[in-house]
Amino acid sequence: MSTHPAIIATGIKEPLTTQRVPTATPQQHEIQVRVEWVPSAPLDVFKVDAGLMAQFPLRLGDSVAGTVVAVSPNVQRLKLGDRVCGFVFHNENEMGQQVYVTAPNHLFSKVPDGMSLAAAATLPTNFCTAFLSLSENLKIDLPWPLPENFVPRGEQIPILIWGAGSSVGHFAVQILKHWGYKNVIVTASLKHEKKLKGYGAAHVFDYRSTGVVDSVLEILSSDKSPEAIRVFDCVDSKFGSLLPISKIATRAGSKVAAVLPVVINNSSDANGLQLSPDVSTGADWSKDVEIHSIVSYGYEANAFLKENLFPEILPTLLSQGTIEPNDQRVVQGTRF
Ligand SMILES: NC(=O)c1ccc[n+]([C@@H]2O[C@H](COP(=O)([O-])OP(=O)(O)OC[C@H]3O[C@@H](n4cnc5c(N)ncnc54)[C@H](OP(=O)(O)O)[C@@H]3O)[C@@H](O)[C@H]2O)c1
Repeated sequence: MSTHPAIIATGIKEPLTTQRVPTATPQQHEIQVRVEWVPSAPLDVFKVDAGLMAQFPLRLGDSVAGTVVAVSPNVQRLKLGDRVCGFVFHNENEMGQQVYVTAPNHLFSKVPDGMSLAAAATLPTNFCTAFLSLSENLKIDLPWPLPENFVPRGEQIPILIWGAGSSVGHFAVQILKHWGYKNVIVTASLKHEKKLKGYGAAHVFDYRSTGVVDSVLEILSSDKSPEAIRVFDCVDSKFGSLLPISKIATRAGSKVAAVLPVVINNSSDANGLQLSPDVSTGADWSKDVEIHSIVSYGYEANAFLKENLFPEILPTLLSQGTIEPNDQRVVQGTRF
């Protein structure tokens, strides 16, 4: 039986280890990828620091970029040597922080020529989370293929992206611009202002400013559109995002979608990392405001997204230059 090295977390706050694990053979519809780059993701920290969704020992990482090294005979779309990035999360054979991952081919996108695999590794989880939250939870119309001269019916609906400086937030803003939404309000550190305005944000506010809620409310009160607001919370911090959002999303019919888990205290807090699985109890929400918790691991429940998101939508947007990957800080480890 062939084996390969994998990063293994053995328990809460235990040092990570490297161990050899069996290399799976691709089954029907699966491919095998030689992993070259993995991003370090917040979920990995939540697993190791707080045991979130963790049954130890476990492998980490749900985004990868690498090269296809094996395909099952019924896979036509991808071939040996293709450069791909993928969203990998169903089981241990798929997780990203190991030398080979084996997973269903629909989880992978081809990476366009000229894009580095390190850059491509920033895409899968974060792009999926943004697309799923906007389309499925907030019911923002993102038809695919995008019809020529498409103008969305709610072109001027106010859409607030809280935490647009995050990886997920960067993709949300780029997606909204491509589909033609014009009234996109974001919060982020102001170092991102130029980039986010280039991505289509109409207003950028510093989330650390004490006046941030009033600034957003002022835009909404001057807004001629009677539409309720849609809010995508890319941070889900009880005090840093949910509480301010609950003061903004008060019009009946507003929708709020927040990424799980809710962070009550982060890892650097004196009381340690504290998480909650419930967005609806994270703040005192106004009546008639819809609250959604986002778990991107459920995206395949939408058959259209399962079939199209990674095989078709992401690679097309990347080759058109509509979506660009996040900036990365590269940490080069030992190559196994
Ligand atoms: N449930 C799911 O399916 C799912 C999937 C993906 C991600 N997530 C979660 O989504 C969150 C974001 O993930 P990510 O990878 O995009 O994180 P990230 O790139 O590490 O984002 C961190 C950035 O968020 C911004 N931020 C922090 N606190 C903020 C606040 N109170 N208000 C506004 N912005 C704030 C800061 O940006 P500035 O530079 O602007 O200060 C910070 O640098 C994480 O909690 C992650 O676990 C959940």
